Amino acid sequence: MLAAGSWTALALLWAAGGCVGRSAGYRRRGDPKVSLEYNPGWESSAVNLLHTRAVGLNDTIHYIWSTIGAPTALLVYTGSDSSTLHVNWTQLLSSSPAGAIRVEPADSVLYSTAVVFTRLWEYDGTNTSDLSKVHAEHFYPSYHLANFTWASLEGQLNKTALSAEFRGVSSGREGTFWNGSISFQVTAYEGGSRDGPLPRLLHSANSSKVEFVMQGVAPRGNRSRFALEILALEQGGRRKLLQSVRSIDDEYTPTIFEMAQLISEPHNNSFGSSFLQWKTAAYSSQNPQREDTVHCQYYPLQVVNTTGPEFSILRAYFGEDLERRCSLSAVNISFGSENNEAYEEKGYLSWSALVGFGEPPREGFSLLVIGILAVALGTPAVLLIVGTLVVLTRQEKPCSEYEPIN
Ligand SMILES: *[C@@H]1O[C@H](CO)[C@@H](O)[C@H](O)[C@H]1NC(C)=O
Ligand SMILES: *[C@@H]1O[C@H](CO)[C@@H](O)[C@H](O)[C@H]1NC(C)=O
Ligand SMILES: *[C@@H]1O[C@H](CO)[C@@H](O)[C@H](O)[C@H]1NC(C)=O
Ligand SMILES: *[C@@H]1O[C@H](CO)[C@@H](O)[C@H](O)[C@H]1NC(C)=O
Ligand SMILES: *[C@@H]1O[C@H](CO)[C@@H](O)[C@H](O)[C@H]1NC(C)=O
Ligand SMILES: *[C@@H]1O[C@H](CO)[C@@H](O)[C@H](O)[C@H]1NC(C)=O
Ligand SMILES: *[C@@H]1O[C@H](CO)[C@@H](O)[C@H](O)[C@H]1NC(C)=O
Ligand SMILES: *[C@@H]1O[C@H](CO)[C@@H](O)[C@H](O)[C@H]1NC(C)=O
Ligand SMILES: *[C@@H]1O[C@H](CO)[C@@H](O)[C@H](O)[C@H]1NC(C)=O
Ligand SMILES: *[C@@H]1O[C@H](CO)[C@@H](O)[C@H](O)[C@H]1NC(C)=O
Ligand SMILES: *[C@@H]1O[C@H](CO)[C@@H](O)[C@H](O)[C@H]1NC(C)=O
Repeated sequence: MLAAGSWTALALLWAAGGCVGRSAGYRRRGDPKVSLEYNPGWESSAVNLLHTRAVGLNDTIHYIWSTIGAPTALLVYTGSDSSTLHVNWTQLLSSSPAGAIRVEPADSVLYSTAVVFTRLWEYDGTNTSDLSKVHAEHFYPSYHLANFTWASLEGQLNKTALSAEFRGVSSGREGTFWNGSISFQVTAYEGGSRDGPLPRLLHSANSSKVEFVMQGVAPRGNRSRFALEILALEQGGRRKLLQSVRSIDDEYTPTIFEMAQLISEPHNNSFGSSFLQWKTAAYSSQNPQREDTVHCQYYPLQVVNTTGPEFSILRAYFGEDLERRCSLSAVNISFGSENNEAYEEKGYLSWSALVGFGEPPREGFSLLVIGILAVALGTPAVLLIVGTLVVLTRQEKPCSEYEPIN
């Protein structure tokens, strides 16, 4: 009876959790399914613009990743499998880029959004790692990513792995980037699956990954902490919402129980939505293990109503008056907690997020968790039997230590 009950509960859990997450299934179907194109229509490699075209059945997702201005990811979803990207380079590199980036046919465009990586904050985390509690005088001058010098993407494109790496250094005179750099490593996907390396994000055919890596950058103090400021755009009267998704799943990213996501506010009269999703974990090693986990914390979403020249990709696509026609919001994400070592000890930090169209992938309960629950639900019966046996045999055994499951 008990066993039957727990199996019913399990079946319900399984159904509620969607087994292994809702991501497998839909795949890109074009030929090629996903293609990468560097600076389309331009021979130079003085600036970086990467066009990722993911063709599906009657739809195409265009991703435009660029370091013209601040590092930007523009996502355009079209209801056509033959929509194309047009870039007017003279206009894009001019001081009035509005209209320089178009996707045609224009009426196939159903939804557009963008994410911009604007600033890197550095502060003295001696007393607290909480960015919002740090006094102004404990901040070092922030790095504007738009002012960075970005290496050419030429040779950094891997068309097999569908990935590319944008590597930049601060052109400032502090010398902190003498031996270091930051980079944005982007990966496109043809179908749904789970990433191999930590944080093992579950991705779908409608998403791409961006990994922010800080390597060898000299901190300006002994207990320096860093935070990344990210801006997100939503068209029309809609806004972005910042959500926290808690999970009990401890198998894929052990000890991390929270997923955060920026999503589009639900709206009856608008088509489509998008997301930026991340786990609250960063890593201090290139081949991260669980012990390299660095806590990452996010802060409330702030409305932004003015933008500067660093948003050239946004202007080029959404137009000169984008502040009027789009809603912009920004969020800070800080890396490191009080009991973690500071960045200087490893000189390495990586943080990954998914950017995509539609609903964010949802983690289900893993088989391991379901197994543990099965045991837990069956425990009363087991306890009864074991207890009886112990009483009967009076055999004492040392308690086994709790072994964390990897
Ligand atoms: C991806 O987008 C397509 C087209 O809107 C949709 O049919 C499909 O369900 C989406 N897949 C996922 C995993 O969100
Ligand atoms: C794709 O478009 C064609 C022509 O409009 C239509 O016949 C077909 O049913 C569509 N397929 C899907 C899966 O929507
Ligand atoms: C590109 O933009 C420039 C400046 O706005 C314009 O003169 C030119 O005609 C455009 N080129 C194309 C191919 O549209
Ligand atoms: C840390 O706290 C001490 C004592 O409250 C204070 O004097 C010091 O300025 C603080 N340092 C930082 C970096 O916040
Ligand atoms: C960096 O960029 C910001 C805004 O984009 C600008 O105000 C600032 O002067 C720039 N700093 C340097 C050192 O170029
Ligand atoms: C591209 O990625 C594939 C698969 O990850 C890897 O085997 C290959 O070595 C990479 N090529 C380059 C040039 O890095
Ligand atoms: C750069 O690295 C070299 C060797 O690791 C070291 O000697 C040098 O001091 C570093 N320079 C800076 C500015 O950190
Ligand atoms: C960093 O720590 C060293 C030794 O612990 C100390 O001598 C130095 O003054 C500290 N530097 C700063 C900027 O606090
Ligand atoms: C959206 O539609 C639902 C039902 O169709 C309705 O209950 C809700 O009030 C609508 N929301 C807005 C913002 O119009
Ligand atoms: C911009 O935002 C600030 C604070 O949120 C607000 O006071 C100001 O009126 C806004 N400006 C415009 C032009 O909307
Ligand atoms: C990020 O943190 C810095 C420093 O506290 C603050 O000046 C900035 O307004 C914050 N940005 C957002 C979007 O919260």
